[in-house]
Amino acid sequence: MKLAPQDRIIAALDVESLEEAAGLVKTLMPAGISHFKVGMSLFTRFGPPSVELVHREGGKVFLDLKFHDIPSTVGRTMRSVARLKVWMTNLHIQGGSAMMREAVRALREEAGQARMEPPLLIGVTVLTSMAERDMIDLGLRKTLKDQVIYLARLAKGAGLNGIVASAQEARALRWALGEDFVLVAPGIRPQEAPRDILSVKPGSGTDDQQRTATPAEAVRAGADYLVMGRPIVKAADPKSVVLKIIQELER
Ligand code: C5P
Repeated sequence: MKLAPQDRIIAALDVESLEEAAGLVKTLMPAGISHFKVGMSLFTRFGPPSVELVHREGGKVFLDLKFHDIPSTVGRTMRSVARLKVWMTNLHIQGGSAMMREAVRALREEAGQARMEPPLLIGVTVLTSMAERDMIDLGLRKTLKDQVIYLARLAKGAGLNGIVASAQEARALRWALGEDFVLVAPGIRPQEAPRDILSVKPGSGTDDQQRTATPAEAVRAGADYLVMGRPIVKAADPKSVVLKIIQELER
């Protein structure tokens, strides 16, 4: 998809309070960022106000709650998601085709009744925190890349708009699924991001993301959107980090 560099970045509001989240939105919007991710920790703690604070500033929300349940439950939940007027949301493809089809149906129906566009529905393939050995651990026989492509095809068949995968699989996914399918890539790590801010536990020096890429590598490989949390959120100066990434993507 042809997008301006600033429109490719989805900044994850992975913070501890609504005030911090609103502060980050207000800091990043003047740098051209308009897509923000509200994830499970912020939403579980504060609920819909965490979405509304982005809308109030004129931003768009990717509600990242990674649903995975029986079709009727996910369908009902999708109706609530549609009412939040978010731009994008997601579920685990592992929930199966019936669950995905019901989610698509419910989102379209609810959005249709409210006379609005349904949110983009994106399927999580294999988390970017997982590596090849996790496939064996889960009892899966496919290689990680084959599993990602297999799940992506399943998602496309069920009517989803795109998938979440690592930039490392983006090239193969583009080839397998064509141009008209949204690829969202987390695990984005600018070369110069200080290691200590990426740690799961402060000071541990260990990043939980395994399949990573720099912003430019991810876009070159075919990713449409780059989900970025810690490299922006934990930086001393989030706005300058974002401006640097935009500059890198413009080259
Ligand atoms: O801090 P970091 O850049 O690793 O943040 C990535 C964000 O993207 C986190 O909020 C994480 O929950 C989210 N995410 C992910 N993998 C997915 C979907 C979302 O890492 N498959």
